[in-house]
Amino acid sequence: MLSKSEKETIGLGEALGKKLQKGMCIVLKGDLAGGKTTFTKGIGKALNIKEVINSPTFTILKIYEGDLKLFHIDAYRLEGNEYDLGLDEYLDEGVMVVEWPEYYKDYLPKEYLEISFKYVDDETREITFNPVGEKYKELC
Ligand SMILES: Nc1ncnc2c1ncn2[C@@H]1O[C@H](COP(=O)(O)OP(=O)(O)OP(=O)(O)O)[C@@H](O)[C@H]1O
Ligand SMILES: [Mg+2]
Repeated sequence: MLSKSEKETIGLGEALGKKLQKGMCIVLKGDLAGGKTTFTKGIGKALNIKEVINSPTFTILKIYEGDLKLFHIDAYRLEGNEYDLGLDEYLDEGVMVVEWPEYYKDYLPKEYLEISFKYVDDETREITFNPVGEKYKELC
């Protein structure tokens, strides 16, 4: 689908966020400035997270408290130096959102919802959903 604005992408993230259940994993792929963090802000809104969600340089993992915990991973800076952040045992306390999953792929759960972001023009992004596993197909 096409998103025509930042606001629309936040709205999509929010719609998904309302359907998330504990233990779920969402991976966000695609272009720099594609809208991955913007989408994550929408998820945070749905989970009633008050803190501002962003991607500070050099922070790989941030944990936000809301109706569910949000484990927000930005693996961009792990490129070539991937390591296990050890989230498996905590995942059932919340949901995990992974930007740049290419750099964390050995440590992802077997099933997840993959969402790809493609830069079309300044204000437009093409967003594609690719569920892996039964529960994520249902979610879509
Ligand atoms: N339709 C749109 N959806 C999302 N963001 C948009 C859209 N149109 C313009 N933008 C702008 O694009 C930028 C997206 O930045 P964002 O940090 O969400 O990207 P990102 O995919 O997380 O990038 P990075 O790979 O660097 O982490 C923001 O500045 C936002 O305002
Ligand atoms: Mg980002």
